[in-house]
Amino acid sequence: MKGTSEVKRIQYHEYGGPEVMRLEDFEPAPLGAEEVLVRVRAAAANPMDFGIRAGRMKHVTGRRFPRAMGYDFAGVVEAVGDRVTRLRVGDEVLGGTSIKEAGAFADVVVAHEKGIVNKPGNLSFEDAAGIPTVGITALQALMTKGKLQPGQSVFVHSCLGGVGRSAVQLALAHQATVAGSCRATARSEARDLGIDPVVDFDFDPASLAGRFDLVVITAGALPVKAARTILKPGGRIVSILPTPSNLARSALPGPFHTLIARPVTKDLEEVARAAGRGTLRLPIARTVPLSQAIPALTEFERKATGKRGKLIITPGG
Ligand SMILES: NC(=O)c1ccc[n+]([C@@H]2O[C@H](COP(=O)([O-])OP(=O)(O)OC[C@H]3O[C@@H](n4cnc5c(N)ncnc54)[C@H](OP(=O)(O)O)[C@@H]3O)[C@@H](O)[C@H]2O)c1
Repeated sequence: MKGTSEVKRIQYHEYGGPEVMRLEDFEPAPLGAEEVLVRVRAAAANPMDFGIRAGRMKHVTGRRFPRAMGYDFAGVVEAVGDRVTRLRVGDEVLGGTSIKEAGAFADVVVAHEKGIVNKPGNLSFEDAAGIPTVGITALQALMTKGKLQPGQSVFVHSCLGGVGRSAVQLALAHQATVAGSCRATARSEARDLGIDPVVDFDFDPASLAGRFDLVVITAGALPVKAARTILKPGGRIVSILPTPSNLARSALPGPFHTLIARPVTKDLEEVARAAGRGTLRLPIARTVPLSQAIPALTEFERKATGKRGKLIITPGG
């Protein structure tokens, strides 16, 4: 196994498209008191990896280069900062970096301990790497913003993406009933998850009028009028798409809320427990070694893989 003196990561020296990604040697930053150095066994791609590399969050990510890529990872703790007490060297963990730091598509990653939890023993590193961002986003959409109660009814718009599928599974595990929308060709996959009814992305809201306590919008552009039509009186609409118009609408009184997920340790622990119990599973579309990750990420970003599920990167060697 490589020492931390000869480690690689995917990074870029300017914001831009897939062509700016490079696999290069790097020097891990010295550990802060609350930080953890993890030997990455698997990392997973999310849509935000590409948007951030394109410079869409420059106000947070700044103009210092090179910038690393990748947020979600699973691996083994190699060193801990002076004030870290919850995690120990040798622990098998899963977690995510901050938006500002990134760096999961790498042999080793440094992250704040609050974004890292122990990995259930029965979960593979590959399966574990797929869950942090989508799981925590789905959980906070349902519970923190959505205030979901057992027995309530949820509609998940775009129910087969990473966050959508996680929201469906976590809601079902919370004894809610779940309906959702997906591509017409994927209806049976959605039904197999326990979603009923399953409708197309451009469904007629009148057909579901007044049926849901909670509407979670995970992708696409469900018109607010449609979301309000299918909502019960007193229900909530939660979007995970923090567009300026959604953020402005959330500031007004009413049912509409926009979530920007946060790294809350107890939420990540809950997500990890659900994955350990088997109530939260994300399909893996493809697994590639770090050495072949750039072409795989490029294809994934262009949606050229034609397969639903997570892209997993395994550093190995
Ligand atoms: N606010 C936050 O904190 C937060 C956190 C995580 C993610 N996000 C954002 O949430 C979004 C979803 O993330 P994800 O990880 O779930 O992405 P994902 O796994 O790529 O899923 C996206 C889903 O959108 C579906 N889709 C495609 N066209 C659609 C349309 N016209 N209407 C509705 N759905 C459509 C896709 O269906 P097909 O597979 O059939 O094409 C796919 O299932 C991304 O924009 C991401 O950046 C926000």
